[in-house]
Amino acid sequence: MTRPTFDGRSRSEAYEDSQNVGINHSVNPAIGDVVQQRYGRRDVLKGLLAGSAAGIALSAGLPIGKADAQANGTRHSFNFKEVPHGVDRTHHIAEGYDADVLIRWGDPVTPDAPPFDPHRQTAAAQQKQFGYNNDYIAYMPLPLGSGNPNRGMLVINHEYTNEELMFPGMARQDSKEVLFRDMTQNLVDIEMAAHGMSVVEIQKNADGKWSLVSGSLFGRRVDGLASLCELSGPVAGHARVKTKTDPSGRHVIGTLNNCAGGVTPWGTMLSGEENFHGYFGGKLEAGHPEEGNHKRYGVPGNWYAWAKFHDRFDVTKEPNEANRYGWVVEIDPYDPKSTPKKRTALGRTKHEGATVVVNKDGRVAVYSGDDERFEYVYKFITRGRYNPGNRQANMNLLDDGTLFVARYDANGRGEWLPLVYGQGPLTPANGFSSQADVLIEARRAADLLGATKMDRPEEIEVNPVNGKVYAIMTNNSRRKPEQVDAANPRAGNQWGQIIEMIQPDNDHTANTFAWNILLQAGNPADPKVAGKYHTQTSANGWFACPDNAAFDSQGRFWVGTDQGEAWQKASGTADGIWAVETEGPNRGLSKQFFRNPVGAEICGPCFTPDDKTLFVAVQHPAADGGEKFTKSGKGSTFEDPATRWPDFQPGMPPRPSVVVITKKDGRILGS
Ligand code: FEO
Ligand code: CA
Ligand code: CA
Ligand code: CA
Repeated sequence: MTRPTFDGRSRSEAYEDSQNVGINHSVNPAIGDVVQQRYGRRDVLKGLLAGSAAGIALSAGLPIGKADAQANGTRHSFNFKEVPHGVDRTHHIAEGYDADVLIRWGDPVTPDAPPFDPHRQTAAAQQKQFGYNNDYIAYMPLPLGSGNPNRGMLVINHEYTNEELMFPGMARQDSKEVLFRDMTQNLVDIEMAAHGMSVVEIQKNADGKWSLVSGSLFGRRVDGLASLCELSGPVAGHARVKTKTDPSGRHVIGTLNNCAGGVTPWGTMLSGEENFHGYFGGKLEAGHPEEGNHKRYGVPGNWYAWAKFHDRFDVTKEPNEANRYGWVVEIDPYDPKSTPKKRTALGRTKHEGATVVVNKDGRVAVYSGDDERFEYVYKFITRGRYNPGNRQANMNLLDDGTLFVARYDANGRGEWLPLVYGQGPLTPANGFSSQADVLIEARRAADLLGATKMDRPEEIEVNPVNGKVYAIMTNNSRRKPEQVDAANPRAGNQWGQIIEMIQPDNDHTANTFAWNILLQAGNPADPKVAGKYHTQTSANGWFACPDNAAFDSQGRFWVGTDQGEAWQKASGTADGIWAVETEGPNRGLSKQFFRNPVGAEICGPCFTPDDKTLFVAVQHPAADGGEKFTKSGKGSTFEDPATRWPDFQPGMPPRPSVVVITKKDGRILGS
């Protein structure tokens, strides 16, 4: 192993901090620079642009009268009593609702899974049990295409692992001082087996409560240790993805850092491979042809000990393996034997997720944020059209189409720039010899096209009622004062913002859009923070660091947060779910609905088709900033965690879990 490259910062600090080092060195204007051209910096710093009707109209490029017209006629739609800010060892839900744990790390997924014993865990057991750090959740009705709100599958991403909470007697391994010294092959293999995805079958019972269907033949794990995935699309078989163990350049072991995702109308789930660089170690020889590419993605990240025991994660030994991660992966949960496909046409970035919408002409759009400081917002448009009558005809739709990256202009307009080999600067003169090169180095291609550098793009969601697109920027504490602007209006932005994008006639294939800020997160009462919401938002209604979100079928917006280690500084309250109005006179009004246990972020908000159930993923309970909560002031470990949520049993560590939220009276959420 070479020494870690994180300059003494731990893995989770690195997660917060960038996600690693802010490696976009291109000279494209940050969106801040763009707004500078439109508005005086003083106005921007005062936060005058977001929130007010005039500001919204201005920044959307709409006449004010039109914005006012949109504002009339929509009533306040969230009818529940708000959960207060706070932080403690357990979760909280609004009065009149239930929030029950459905499945936890280690629970059985396949019919032959052994019982969970965290004191004697094995990789073989973990391959059959629910993985660690549940993230995105997809609800897939059973049978296929039925829309059944009472029986279905959940397909769940497992993003990463926390060794100090998973393994007894284990200190954090990812610091310069410890350098993974206690990690063994067995522990590394358990970590790899705890990554990937789970498929479970669930049903709603007569009492209105959900349960797992035990022994379901749909039960399935896809892991990072041994599950085969296939590279598909323009990069499949290319020389740059061929390795010693896979000379075909088509067969990859596993999928990693599966963060957010999306669901296709043909009944598959898309999973974003996000911080894949963290699993690689070693050192590439100087002057190696992949040197610039690896650097642009932060490879090797040295966040884990995997390269010590698995040569493919050592870039010295296998320089091409890193090119086989960072893709959007499509899985068909209705066919438990299907091979997940890495859809390379969608580009290689640190994909937060992949949100799917069928355009009115039948072409399919997939939106994805590249979650790192100063990275970009992307969309992919298929060449072919969705065929509702022939599932098979849609199964490779995502292999052929055009990838675009967003530029946000100073006049409140924006442009989608195509990443197409041979067009503009994407030529051999700049080191691109094919579309495969453009896709493998999508970040560098986007640099050359002049895309706008954003404040860590997380999830992108589309309102199913009106087609408006919401791009969530979680934070970017490294944005400098000279880089601020209307869309990223704050330097040292620890709080994030949500950007609304409107494409002409809601045509998702359009090359242009109008944009404005829906809200600016952080405390609205602190002038130094300048959070911007509807003025009626209460002292519990504001939040920091939006990340994952979902629209229900009525077009109401539910936003989750991930403040990470910095939660105390960002807000002082735990992460949770807030319900946010996007339309009408209450636009920008936010109310807290659910609150996490200490140290957890919230992921995966996912509704059943009838809006009567919301699934959320409580990720890494006790982990993030646990030392700011415990009396000892020490970071959480297996033996001494900030919380033992959700079991609260002696000897049982905290367990990332999916929670199911229903209304006690059985009606739709927020009614
Ligand atoms: Fe995995 Fe960007 O959250
Ligand atoms: Ca996460
Ligand atoms: Ca996320
Ligand atoms: Ca996040």
